[in-house]
Amino acid sequence: MTNTAAPAPAKGLEGVIAANTRLSDVRGDIGQLIYCGYDINELAGKVAYEDVVHLLHHNHLPNAKELAELKVTLGQFREIPQGVIDIICKLPKETPPMNAIRTAVSALGCFDTTSEDDSQHSQRRKALRLIAQVPVVTAYFHRNRQGLPLIHPDAKLGEAANFLWMVNGTKPTKDMEATMDVCYVLHADHGMNASTFSARVTIATLSDMYSAVTTAIGTLKGPLHGGANEGVIKMLHEIGSLEAVDGWVADALAQKKKIMGIGHRVYKVLDPRAPHLKKMAQILSSQLGEPKWIQMSERIAELMLTKKNLHANVDFYSATVYYSLGIPTDLFTPIFAISRTSGWTAHVLEQLADNRLIRPQSVYTGPVGLKVVPVEQR
Ligand SMILES: CC(C)(COP(=O)(O)OP(=O)(O)OC[C@H]1O[C@@H](n2cnc3c(N)ncnc32)[C@H](O)[C@@H]1OP(=O)(O)O)[C@@H](O)C(=O)NCCC(=O)NCCS
Repeated sequence: MTNTAAPAPAKGLEGVIAANTRLSDVRGDIGQLIYCGYDINELAGKVAYEDVVHLLHHNHLPNAKELAELKVTLGQFREIPQGVIDIICKLPKETPPMNAIRTAVSALGCFDTTSEDDSQHSQRRKALRLIAQVPVVTAYFHRNRQGLPLIHPDAKLGEAANFLWMVNGTKPTKDMEATMDVCYVLHADHGMNASTFSARVTIATLSDMYSAVTTAIGTLKGPLHGGANEGVIKMLHEIGSLEAVDGWVADALAQKKKIMGIGHRVYKVLDPRAPHLKKMAQILSSQLGEPKWIQMSERIAELMLTKKNLHANVDFYSATVYYSLGIPTDLFTPIFAISRTSGWTAHVLEQLADNRLIRPQSVYTGPVGLKVVPVEQR
């Protein structure tokens, strides 16, 4: 006998409100994203990622002194323990970078003697350390797997420029830095998305900051969440040419395949981050003299809107932006993780400020009343 009287669960928790937050609001019906009162269109291109880190962590944009102090702190926190570097360098070179980063963040917690200190000061410090160190472990893993020397972080550079420096070993141009910085700003937070929810579930047990961010990285990795940006470039390569797009999309839809970078649980109109990324992708593609990828992307987006009434999401054009910047495909999701660490840690701090264990229920659909049969009779 199964439990048929219980209410049906909200599959995928769709429509379920899990928390109050002052951090960000995703207004899916009108295509608006707000960080602490600021529309994303007001922030993108006007403020740096470090401003957004301060905004999410303190609920207001920093003044000049606060911003300068934050930049110094993040620069200092980029130094990571040798033990963590050793672990990163011993990982198999074929390890997907998201797995490597997940492991490295967990290791950072083991080497931080304050990891179990739950004072507010210590939690804030750990949050900033993670924001500064996730890019460093990503770059170290990437350089080591290529057999290249590790590049020491440059405390004088901002977050976006330092990451490009540590990955490429050359200082980025102002344009590259600015593009990356806008990408960071656009990815910093996004309401109760899957990885943020998992970070909040973990910290709500009064676990620790490193465990919460490790959980979040594991969640972001999946192709239905942050992993979609890698899927977009794989798809573009598989399609191969602008002429092949229509046929490929028709086949994929006939086979009920999901087109990566299209659709969203909350946005029923255009994802407000997509136009910013689309514009940057257009500029970069024309600068590179390689318009094929953006042309193919635009055609896929057009077809999906006409055929399925589904819009491109943040991952769709960010893939072309990173690709045009020469970043390897499997670092796309790690870049998302680098930026979202600011949002995850802000949510962890917010959860801790008014905590209650997150513990939903399930509807049991199995049988009841079974009797144990001796093993030799089963
Ligand atoms: C984001 C996503 C996971 C949201 O999922 P969801 O809210 O659970 O929506 P569903 O998967 O139930 O999709 C609803 C309908 O739209 C269709 N759909 C949604 N996204 C689609 C896509 N990318 N390609 C083709 N069809 C899609 C589904 O097939 C379904 O159609 P049906 O009702 O005819 O069966 C989903 O749109 C998706 O898988 N997108 C591709 C991955 C991606 O870009 N993820 C990054 C999100 S920022």
